[in-house]
Amino acid sequence: MNSAEPVPAHVAIVMDGNGRWANRRFLPRVAGHKAGVSALRECVRACAVRGIQVLSVFAFSSENWNRPKDEVSGLLELLVLALSREVPQLVADGVLLRFVGERVSLADVVRDGLQRAEAATAMGRRLRLNVCFNYGGRWDIVQAAQQLAADGVEITEESLGAQMLMGQVADPDLIIRTGSEQRISNFLLWQAAYSELYFCDTLWPDFDEHALDRALLDYRRRERRFGKTSAQVLAAMDNQRAA
Ligand code: IPE
Ligand code: IPE
Ligand code: MG
Repeated sequence: MNSAEPVPAHVAIVMDGNGRWANRRFLPRVAGHKAGVSALRECVRACAVRGIQVLSVFAFSSENWNRPKDEVSGLLELLVLALSREVPQLVADGVLLRFVGERVSLADVVRDGLQRAEAATAMGRRLRLNVCFNYGGRWDIVQAAQQLAADGVEITEESLGAQMLMGQVADPDLIIRTGSEQRISNFLLWQAAYSELYFCDTLWPDFDEHALDRALLDYRRRERRFGKTSAQVLAAMDNQRAA
C-alpha cells in the first residue's frame, strides 16, 4: 500500500479463529493462541509502519472465563509469558502498551505483569497498543456510569464517554473481525457507534500484513457520513481542499 494514502488513525481488531486454526492442524487450542501472539506481533509492526496511531485488540473477553479451565489457564500463562518476551521489542519500536479491562479480580502475578509492561512502555510515542483483556463493552459502560454516579457527576454522552477505559482515545475508525463470524461479541460497544466494520474469513493466526492491507483498502472505499447525506460529505471535502 502506498504510504501517502490516508490510513485510519485507530484500528480495532477482534482476533478470532485461533481455536479453529489449531483444530485444523490437530493441535490443542492453546497452540492456536500461541500462533495468535505471533500474528499480533506482526500486526503491531505493520500498523506502525503504515502510520496507524492506535491499535486496539480484543484478547480475552469477560465471557471467555466460561471456556474450559485448561484453555483459560493456558491463555493466562501465555499472557504472562508474552509480557516478559515481547516488551523489550515493543519499547524498541516505540509502542505504548495499555491494558483495557477489569483487573481487580486477576491473580497478582497477572496484574503485576500488566502494570510492569505498561510502565516499561510508557514512553512509546509511535503507536498506542490497547490490549483489551478481561474486557466487556457492557462492563465498561456500567463501570463508567457507576463512577460518575459515585462522584455525583451528571451523566451525559461526553462525561460517560470520557469515563470509559479508553475515554482519552478517539473512537476506532475501523473494526476488523477475523475468523468469519459477523458479530461484535461485547467489544467496544460504546466506541463502535460510527466505526466502519470489516469482516474476513482469515483465521487470526493467518492474518498478515497483506490481510491488513486488504482491510485498509476496503476502508478507503467507504464513505463515512455520520448521519449526513453523501452530497454534504462531498461538499465538506471540497471546502477542505479549497481552504
Ligand atoms: C480468539 O480465538 C481468541 C480468544 C477468544 C481468546 P478463539 O479461541 O475464539 O478461536 P475460535 O473462534 O474457537 O476458532
Ligand atoms: C471474541 O471472540 C473475543 C476475543 C476475540 C477475545 P469469541 O470467540 O469469544 O466470540 P464468540 O463467542 O464467538 O462470540
Ligand atoms: Mg472465537
